[in-house]
Amino acid sequence: MKSTRIVLASRPTGMPEPENFRTETVELPPPNPGEALLQTVYLSLDPYMRGRMSDAPSYAPPVEVDDTMCGATVSRVLESTDPALQPGDFVLGYAGWQTHSVEHTGYLRKLDPAVAPLTTALGVLGMPGFTAYSGLLTIGRPQPGETVVVAAATGPVGATVGQIAKIKGARAVGIAGGPEKVALLRDRFGFDAALDHRAPDFAEQLAAATPDGIDVYFENVGGAVLDAVLPRLNKFARIPVCGLVAQYNDTELPPGPDRMPLLMSLILRKSLQLRGFIQTEFLDQFGEFYPDVSGWMAEGRIAYLEDVVDGLDNAPEAFRGLLTGKNLGKLVIKVAD
Ligand SMILES: NC(=O)c1ccc[n+]([C@@H]2O[C@H](COP(=O)([O-])OP(=O)(O)OC[C@H]3O[C@@H](n4cnc5c(N)ncnc54)[C@H](OP(=O)(O)O)[C@@H]3O)[C@@H](O)[C@H]2O)c1
Repeated sequence: MKSTRIVLASRPTGMPEPENFRTETVELPPPNPGEALLQTVYLSLDPYMRGRMSDAPSYAPPVEVDDTMCGATVSRVLESTDPALQPGDFVLGYAGWQTHSVEHTGYLRKLDPAVAPLTTALGVLGMPGFTAYSGLLTIGRPQPGETVVVAAATGPVGATVGQIAKIKGARAVGIAGGPEKVALLRDRFGFDAALDHRAPDFAEQLAAATPDGIDVYFENVGGAVLDAVLPRLNKFARIPVCGLVAQYNDTELPPGPDRMPLLMSLILRKSLQLRGFIQTEFLDQFGEFYPDVSGWMAEGRIAYLEDVVDGLDNAPEAFRGLLTGKNLGKLVIKVAD
């Protein structure tokens, strides 16, 4: 069996470029006992992959140059040495940017396409949805009547944060890039207020949309959105620091005066709680997350949006688009029918 795969050809400086990737075809070994031969059907593209392309210190080791780009996948079982998996079954795994793979069955989770569409295992019912659930409820702790603000709000993390905030009785303010996304925030995801971070008067719009200040800022982006949020934070506000996608391609600190003393003074004066997290530290909550979120979906209280791009060849360009907001919802590559 051959696999076509996309490897990291070189480490990007700034925005990843097409030449940082290379497509190649390799021969796969037959599965050993405890392994299965898989055909990738869907590949998840996520912002964290930009960090894996870099060898700067991080919470996880980088992808080595010439190795297959990493990524969560939904695959079809072609051959299995494990009686728990039969050819034709679908599994969630971590095969990366490739058409076929051989994986240890212990690392695979069997999926039932009759229970939920397969792609949701990569989005609202997978890692991004879990990130929203665990980060918001453990660190953000929204209370009825409080104001929760989140950016990248049409993405799988942000959209889920906003909708869970509403379920918990809070007021949800969503921020996204461009009028199409802003309309989705209101019409599809039910945010109480929806703002475009590209608007020249964004900071004024945020102030008008948060008349009682901000109690929870779920930090997905950093940059200019964070600048506009800081003066609106209420005393005892909670800030789950989930991601900083606006700065993932930065190669140096932004110009200008050092604003760290201002930030520290704000944290002190307003008794702010900033807490970074990586979703894996909350994995013991997965058993509550899945029934809660799938139940809310069944009740029509959580909607989701997916951007499915056809063809593994398109993964590098689609990934570049993820870092500039070209995706409309959870970005998934359809690798096979
Ligand atoms: N801590 C964890 O364990 C964990 C786990 C999963 C994800 N995350 C983080 O959660 C965040 C959201 O992830 P996701 O998968 O839901 O991504 P996503 O929303 O599907 O995609 C990223 C979005 O970021 C927005 N963006 C890009 N540049 C921006 C800028 N300069 N200013 C403001 N927004 C910008 C774009 O949306 P707009 O067009 O709306 O601006 C883009 O669509 C990311 O920071 C990611 O790294 C963290």
